[in-house]
Amino acid sequence: MKKTQVAVLASGRGSNFEALVRASADESFPASIALLVTDNPSAGALAFAREHGIDTAVVDCGPRPGSMTRSSSEAIFELCRMRDVGLVCLAGFMRIVKGRLLEEYAGRMLNIHPALLPSFKGLHGQKQALEYGVRVSGCTVHFVDPGIDTGPIIVQHAVPVMQDDTEDSLSARILAEEHRAYPEAVRLFAEGRLRLEGRKVLIQDE
Ligand code: GRF
Repeated sequence: MKKTQVAVLASGRGSNFEALVRASADESFPASIALLVTDNPSAGALAFAREHGIDTAVVDCGPRPGSMTRSSSEAIFELCRMRDVGLVCLAGFMRIVKGRLLEEYAGRMLNIHPALLPSFKGLHGQKQALEYGVRVSGCTVHFVDPGIDTGPIIVQHAVPVMQDDTEDSLSARILAEEHRAYPEAVRLFAEGRLRLEGRKVLIQDE
């Protein structure tokens, strides 16, 4: 069966991008990483993609921080269309996606967030969880909709929050789960096992 072509959009370190690339190295993984797009020429993700022979594109998305310009949304959509991309994965992409890219990839765009949504949306989900005093946090992979971290939830992995956690120690515990959760969600999508019912995601044969 033909593998789903995936474009990953990342602005920084790129460890989730790496996790997806490593997962896709397995023959049985139903998706292949076709493209890395970044808005940041010094993103770690960019260096990793180049070392691994993955197509890359640096797209000027306008002033940071901010959402993305209309023209950059068009440009990224075009890059994806040219490669027959069937799934767009946001992995630490520090932009609110809007415009053509969001419209064309509605239902085919995922994001990973370092908290158990709907708690602690937006920036610094780990710090928000620590400050709130929750006992359990984690990560969420969800479909992207026009809101910020509001789309239908596909996969969540929980981790305990320890009494002596710092933002760094909690972030590291969550990140280890992110690296499992994102490939899991991409696999489910690429196997065609996800169905939306309202804002609920039903997983076939679970
Ligand atoms: C991750 O914590 C992810 O959940 C959030 O941004 C961070 C990106 O990390 N959206 P990396 O660049 O994938 O290492």
